[in-house]
This record gives sequence, structure tokens and C-alpha cells, in this order.
Amino acid sequence: MQKNYGIKFIGIGTALPSKVVKNTDLEKLYDTTDEWIYQRTGIRERRVVEEGKESGFSLSTQAAKKALSMSGVSPADLDLIIVATATPDNLYPSMSCLLQGALGANSAIAYDLSAACSGFVYAVITAAQFIYCGTYKNILVVGLDIHSRFMDWSDRSVSILFGDGAGAVVLQSTLAASDEILGYSMQSQADSKSDLVLTNHNIFYPARNVKISPNFTKMNGKAIFEFGLKIIPETINKTLAPTSLKISDFDYLIPHQANKRIIDSAAKKLGFPNEKVISNIEKVGNTSAASIPLALKDAMDTKKIKVPCKMLWVGFGAGLTWGTVAVNWNLKL
Ligand code: COA
Repeated sequence: MQKNYGIKFIGIGTALPSKVVKNTDLEKLYDTTDEWIYQRTGIRERRVVEEGKESGFSLSTQAAKKALSMSGVSPADLDLIIVATATPDNLYPSMSCLLQGALGANSAIAYDLSAACSGFVYAVITAAQFIYCGTYKNILVVGLDIHSRFMDWSDRSVSILFGDGAGAVVLQSTLAASDEILGYSMQSQADSKSDLVLTNHNIFYPARNVKISPNFTKMNGKAIFEFGLKIIPETINKTLAPTSLKISDFDYLIPHQANKRIIDSAAKKLGFPNEKVISNIEKVGNTSAASIPLALKDAMDTKKIKVPCKMLWVGFGAGLTWGTVAVNWNLKL
């Protein structure tokens, strides 16, 4: 595509709920052990919103305010807000419109984007298109998911994995020659076998006096594991194919934090050494659309990454959806 402008990342902010749920807490809910969960997933604990105190709205507002404060962009100067989420507080109004109100971003357009765990990557790529063609200058992208509300806490095959969180970045237009997005790709394919599904039962049982089943995430763990392993190398190769860049040109890989075994196996296939693979899944679990910005910010805070650097962000999840953004990251704390 003809790029009239480039993208610069100028702010990042994250938010996690205060309540920690450890694997040892899950041992009290069903037959499992801390060691089983850790060995199969790399997760020790996750954060979960406290009902009445925290919500998707409160977490996305906190993350967005931190990202905006770092960027120096005033909410009044935001042109677009995209919240990537599959677990909004309401079906409407959108999380983005609620966030627009909380920030006082009165000139912005606001809408949500639903691509499950690929949401952050999809939203960054979507935002980039508006900047490349010169439509907008300042864009806030938030990845947010509150899976704990849609979790069957008696199902040990799913509830061990997910955690709640939000992560935000601010993108600003710059010269095309200074574009910090080095390449991207997005793909989707219908999940014909329903391997990862969160059904809104209210849609199917609208009549009064009909007993409504709760909305719970259902997953075929093995199928999703195989899917993740297969697409991570594929999407990276597809992203880099039209560029002159090779995998060895990248300093860090930040994959969606779905399962440490998926991350490690994919990194091995790609020839990425352990120290170049960023993961915080041990502390937060799978936070879906928030996972990449949460892992990135954690790596910045703990000085696991040296800036400037080149990074690959890879998202994958329900839909099925997947995609990569190759980034030249210059943002320092
Ligand atoms: N604790 C203890 N035992 C458990 C358990 C738990 N929490 N969950 C399942 N088991 C048992 C099973 O009942 C089974 O027992 P059996 O052999 O007696 O039948 C055994 O452990 C193996 O189960 P299996 O489902 O084959 O485990 P697995 O190695 O596939 O691991 C997941 C399960 C969920 C950890 C794994 O499939 C996974 O992480 N998949 C990817 C999920 C993902 O990334 N989703 C999000 C994508 S965005």
C-alpha cells in the first residue's frame, strides 16, 4: 500500500485487577495441583476483577490514562479510540464509547473490535491504516479482556488458563520514512469445529420464562494448542516475506501469552533463543487481547528488553484469528 505517513508509538500503559488467584487457590475448587498447571501452561497465578470494585471499564480507563500521560497527547487531541475486546462490560454502549466519556476525548471516533486474543494485533493494524492514508493523527488502541466473568470456575480444563487485564498504546502519525511498523499480516478462518467458543446464550433464548444457560468459555485445548504451534511461524514468515527483513533481524518475540509450552515450542521452531522471547504468563495467565501490551510493558519495567529494538508481536485466538506486527520499538520509560 502507498503510505503517505508512518506510525510512531508514543505511549504505553497497562492495568491489572488487584485480586490474585494462585494455582493453589484453584486446588480448592477442583482436582488439580499447582505443579500440573505450571508444567502444562507456565502459569502460577492470574488476576481477577473484584465484582463491584473493578470492571473492563475501570481497567481500560486506567491503562488508557497511563498511555496518554506517557505520550503527552491530550484526550481532546485523540482522533480515534479502538478497544479490542471479546468480553465487554455491555453489548452496548461499546467499551470505546464509555472510555471516550471517561477520558473526555470528545473529538474522537470510538468503536470496539472483536478478534479475541488477536484483538490487540488486529486493532494496531486497523489503526495503522487510518494513519497511513492521513485520515487520523492520534489513535488510542486498548486491548482488554475480563474472562473471569465468563468462566466456569468448576471446569479445570479452561479456568486454569485465563486472567483479566488491559493494555493500551498511543499511535501518532509521523513521516512515512520513519514508520515504526515494519510489516504486518492478519488472517482468519471460521472455527468450524467450535474449538474455542463463548456463546451469548441470551441471544438464543430471548423469551421470558426460558431458563438461560450461563455464558461460559468452551475450549478444545489440544486443537487450540496445535493451532497456535502451527500459525506462529506461518504468520511471521508471511509478515516478513514482502520485506527485506529476516527473523534473525529481530531482537524480541512477543507472542500472545496463551500457554508457555506453545510459546517455547514455536520459538524453538523459529530459532529464537530463550532470552529473546518475552513472557509474563507465569504472573498473569492468558489475558487475551491485553496479553501483548501487558508482556511488553512488563519487559520494559523489568528491563528485560533494550530499547530501541525490533520486535515481533504475534496474536492468535478464537475466530479463528491470527496476525503479526513487526515493530521498530523506540519508546523508553
Ligand atoms: N489439573 C489436573 N489434571 C487435569 C487438568 C487440571 N487442571 N485439566 C485436565 N487434566 C487431566 C485430564 O483430565 C487428562 O486426564 P486423563 O489423561 O486421565 O484423561 C489429563 O490431565 C490430560 O489432559 P489434556 O486435556 O490432554 O491436557 P493437555 O496437556 O492438553 O493440557 C491444556 C490442557 C488446556 C493446558 C492445553 O491443552 C492447552 O493449554 N491448550 C491450549 C489452550 C490455549 O492456549 N487456549 C487459548 C488460546 S487463545
